[in-house]
Amino acid sequence: MNLTRGRFISLEGGEGVGKSTQLKALAAALERHGLGVVVTREPGGSAGAEAIRTLLLEGEPGFWGPRAEALLFAAARSDHVDKVIKPALERGEWVLCDRFHDSSRAYQGGGSGLSDADILTLHRIGSEGFVPDLTIVLTLDEAEARARAKSRDGGAGDRFEQRDDGFHAKVAAAFRSFAAAEPDRIKLVDASGAPQAVTERLLALLAPLLP
Ligand code: TYD
Repeated sequence: MNLTRGRFISLEGGEGVGKSTQLKALAAALERHGLGVVVTREPGGSAGAEAIRTLLLEGEPGFWGPRAEALLFAAARSDHVDKVIKPALERGEWVLCDRFHDSSRAYQGGGSGLSDADILTLHRIGSEGFVPDLTIVLTLDEAEARARAKSRDGGAGDRFEQRDDGFHAKVAAAFRSFAAAEPDRIKLVDASGAPQAVTERLLALLAPLLP
């Protein structure tokens, strides 16, 4: 590893928790600190992964079975890691990623019932098991998250957002269990309240990683 390697931070959580707002605020704060920052997202973030994103998000519900879906997410991630994330870190930049492999573990695992071991195997094959330095899971009361997602999407939502409450509850429980199992890497942060207050909570977690 290059000594001046940047840091890789993923931001996770269910729909409507405010990930994109927070990513923008964090990027601005890190830039003010003099750091180069790349903000990216999954599925997507590289040309190949964006092509796979279109396949994943635009199909009718049930178009992909859970296994095919898990493979597609892993393939998209592989391209994203190779073409965008690792090169940026090697240049010494920080990478802020809207979702990463913990989303596959929570959605294709917790939500759709694949085993965590299988998801991690796909991640090992696709991305050599590459994991973020820090993963922040934004948590929000289910009703508030739904209301926020609805006002953002005008009630439309992509096919993941159209899934039922039971699915989203399983996803939320999966994120909580990952944080309990890996407390050093994965931190839960309360996403309620004013956006600026949430940003302050996030910056407090990033502070120990700053050069
Ligand atoms: P997106 O519109 O980016 O949603 P969000 O704003 O919630 O991040 O759509 C991404 C959807 O894909 C989201 O519902 C979560 C899901 N997803 C998975 O199921 N597995 C994954 O590995 C990733 C990265 C996302």
